[in-house]
Amino acid sequence: MVLLSRNYIYISLKSMSSLLTPSIGRIKALQKRISQPYGAESAKKNPTDQKLNFHPDCEKRINDQINMELMASYAYLGLAYYFHQSAISLPGFYKMFLNFSEEEIEHARFFLDYQILRGGKFTLTDICAPPAKEWVPESAVDIAIEMEKNVTQSILDMHECASKHNDPSVTNFLETVFIDDQYKTISELYHLKTKLKRVQDQEGLYILDKDLEKKYKVALQEQFKE
Ligand SMILES: [Fe+2]
Repeated sequence: MVLLSRNYIYISLKSMSSLLTPSIGRIKALQKRISQPYGAESAKKNPTDQKLNFHPDCEKRINDQINMELMASYAYLGLAYYFHQSAISLPGFYKMFLNFSEEEIEHARFFLDYQILRGGKFTLTDICAPPAKEWVPESAVDIAIEMEKNVTQSILDMHECASKHNDPSVTNFLETVFIDDQYKTISELYHLKTKLKRVQDQEGLYILDKDLEKKYKVALQEQFKE
């Protein structure tokens, strides 16, 4: 009787453990489910339901633009921290370029939001590192102008593409959010280039840098001060 009870207990424990221990099949199924991004299946089943008059060319250009904005942000971040080094110490240029860097991330997010709004598929790709080199304010402003002109041209090309595909939403989005803003930034940089040409000595540069320091706020720093 005792033996039977023991056997019964043994059998019961064995069946319980088989319930608690998942089979290899169940583990594999679970691993497969975890490795799948959330909602990936449903996204695959209904990839284009939302799209209306949204041409693949526009969708692709938006993804390219996201990468371009992030690349610009990375380049500005490099410039900002170059001027932030103790051996350089130009806090105005640091703050200006850091602001530009944050602005470019914001631009990338605008394009991401817009891509989602139109039911497009966003793709994030590798961001190229900016060249590691020595800068002076003049060369940094020149490279910033070149970058802003490239970004503006890319936005204008996207506008042309959207016009060709008769997509007023894309053209309106670019006109209201980006195009004028790009020209303002380019103009601002040209003003700074002229001021830099006028600067004759270290004292002049110090005053110009002080002006920039007053003009630009650094959000993170302000937050830490509180
Ligand atoms: Fe931008």
